[in-house]
Amino acid sequence: MKKVKKIALLTSGGDCPGLNACIRAVVRKSAHEGLKVVGIRRGFIGLMEKDALEMGVSSVSGIIHQGGTILRTARSELFKTKRGQKRAFDNIKELDIQGLIVIGGDGSFHGAYYLNKDWDIPTIGVPATIDNDIAGSDFNIGFATAVNTALEGIDKIRDTATSHDRLFIIEVMGRTSGFIALWAGLAGGVENIFIPELKTDLDEVCRKLEEGRQRGKTSSIIVVAEGDEAGNAFEIGGKIKEKIGYEIRVVVLGHLQRGGSPVALDRILATRLGSAAVDSLLKGERGKMVGLVCDEIKTFPIEYAWKTKKEIDLSLYDLSQILAG
Ligand code: F6P
Repeated sequence: MKKVKKIALLTSGGDCPGLNACIRAVVRKSAHEGLKVVGIRRGFIGLMEKDALEMGVSSVSGIIHQGGTILRTARSELFKTKRGQKRAFDNIKELDIQGLIVIGGDGSFHGAYYLNKDWDIPTIGVPATIDNDIAGSDFNIGFATAVNTALEGIDKIRDTATSHDRLFIIEVMGRTSGFIALWAGLAGGVENIFIPELKTDLDEVCRKLEEGRQRGKTSSIIVVAEGDEAGNAFEIGGKIKEKIGYEIRVVVLGHLQRGGSPVALDRILATRLGSAAVDSLLKGERGKMVGLVCDEIKTFPIEYAWKTKKEIDLSLYDLSQILAG
């Protein structure tokens, strides 16, 4: 095995708060260990185009609190092909890189997996996605901030819902997972939460809304995960209106959940995992992901991320229903 002297890192897929904190940790931990670091711009696209820059300690000054990613990010169809991967492989060899850290979500981890398996490039994945759907880490970088952002939206809408006696349906991101919806919904004390992991009985939701109305309740909030099988927030709102004729407004929070300064939890998670990824490469590990499980750093084969379904804690949903007034 060739001694690791120079590594590369990239951010790939959807951006999320905490990526810069992770980049900073990788660069500075590497400098501490005497490694050279190359940053690749625009994810795997930059790897195929050799869009690389040397990164030293001062190149990551003043970024720990910034959202987005200074390396920029992208999704690439070409990189899914052998032709694209061969280009990346050639560039990695030309740059004399002995290890690659990939910070991103599920799609990015697939890229890292193939570079290791088919092209013999040591790769380590760091889970970063607001969706929080990567198994092997209790929390993924960006999730905590996205929940806080969604919660801020819910709190503000609560003011208007109360003032106008309305039912609001708020749609949050999460792709096919309901983590953001469940956490933000529970923290916001909303009346109901629609998540893809659970089939929601619309008649029961309407029955509860009616029951609340009879008790004198004048406004309500329902949070819907974008991937819910009952449909999007507009469709669900339409169905509820048809059944019980409420005045309804729909808010789709969308991409504002992806930006913003990372909360402390995300900064610390990103810092610990970035540093752990460098340790992992130095130990000669490859084709792995790093994660935080019960506050301990763990490594797993990278495919664990998609071969294992990350379970959502449905007792939180039950609790939200018990406590909804
Ligand atoms: O995976 C992160 C995420 O923000 C999802 O929650 C969302 O479904 C998707 O990315 C949106 O992707 P895009 O930025 O390509 O519209």
